Amino acid sequence: MARRGRTLARFLDLGRKLRTILDSAATAALPDTILAVDGVTFSYGHEPVLVDVSFAIRRGEFAALVGPNGSGKSTLLRVLVGLLRPQAGRVELLGVAPRDLAERWRIGYVPQRPALTGDLPATVEEVVRIGRLARRGWWRRGRTGDAEAVDHALQAVALTDQRRRPVGELSGGQQQRVMIAKALAGEPDVLVLDEPIAGVDREAQQQFRDSVVHLVEHHSATVLLVSHELGAVADDLDRVIVLKRTVLFDGPPSALTARGVSLGVHRDDLPLWLEDLGGA
Ligand SMILES: Nc1ncnc2c1ncn2[C@@H]1O[C@H](COP(=O)(O)OP(=O)(O)O)[C@@H](O)[C@H]1O
Ligand SMILES: [Mg+2]
Repeated sequence: MARRGRTLARFLDLGRKLRTILDSAATAALPDTILAVDGVTFSYGHEPVLVDVSFAIRRGEFAALVGPNGSGKSTLLRVLVGLLRPQAGRVELLGVAPRDLAERWRIGYVPQRPALTGDLPATVEEVVRIGRLARRGWWRRGRTGDAEAVDHALQAVALTDQRRRPVGELSGGQQQRVMIAKALAGEPDVLVLDEPIAGVDREAQQQFRDSVVHLVEHHSATVLLVSHELGAVADDLDRVIVLKRTVLFDGPPSALTARGVSLGVHRDDLPLWLEDLGGA
């Protein structure tokens, strides 16, 4: 009995060591350039939606992608995560072509209108927990950190009081926040968010901002955020990329504010200050 206990203990210890090695190997393997976009051109039909788009994002950067409606932001994100294949140019995500990335949990991608079916038989909390499971892999056992990560993620999107409701009952905006929480809970290496805070109140924006900044600062995550409402994150951003079919501006927010551009709500006035950039 005791002998069996010792063998088991040794086996568990080996498992723990293996897990530590695998974890540190996973972090060490992250390249400096997390996302490289080179000369990407894309069209759904005849009209090109993206023309010669190039930029790179380094590890740990918090970047915002802005541009008027219809400027190709959502399309670009779909190309970046491998859902669409560009007609020309190249994308490298974590050092490989997006479609070749085996560990999908490394990317937390939340589309503008996530498709959650109305009859999905799961609660809000259960969906968010999936974000943890994907990350864990077969060799990991449940961790106390899992419950904590789920709690934090729910708080970040202000859905704690809705956690036991079936997701199908929630509004479209709330469902998108569930998907953001699922992505946050997985603590991905790259977080790609398409207009995640449209229409949520200031307090929820602030909580969201705090959890994204936490991911960037404590987990070396890299974040690409599409949003019209950069006010809540203006002080935290490293980069702003302005897109209108091609990249019109790419630089630190200070370079934009120096030109008299505020990073507040841009749903209406963005096209105006885009003209001022004069193709910079
Ligand atoms: N699935 C699609 N099929 C055909 N055209 C599309 C599709 N999705 C977007 N478009 C078109 O591509 C252009 C860019 O759209 P989109 O990437 O959604 O821009 P944004 O996210 O900046 O508002 C628009 O003209 C839009 O009508
Ligand atoms: Mg869009």
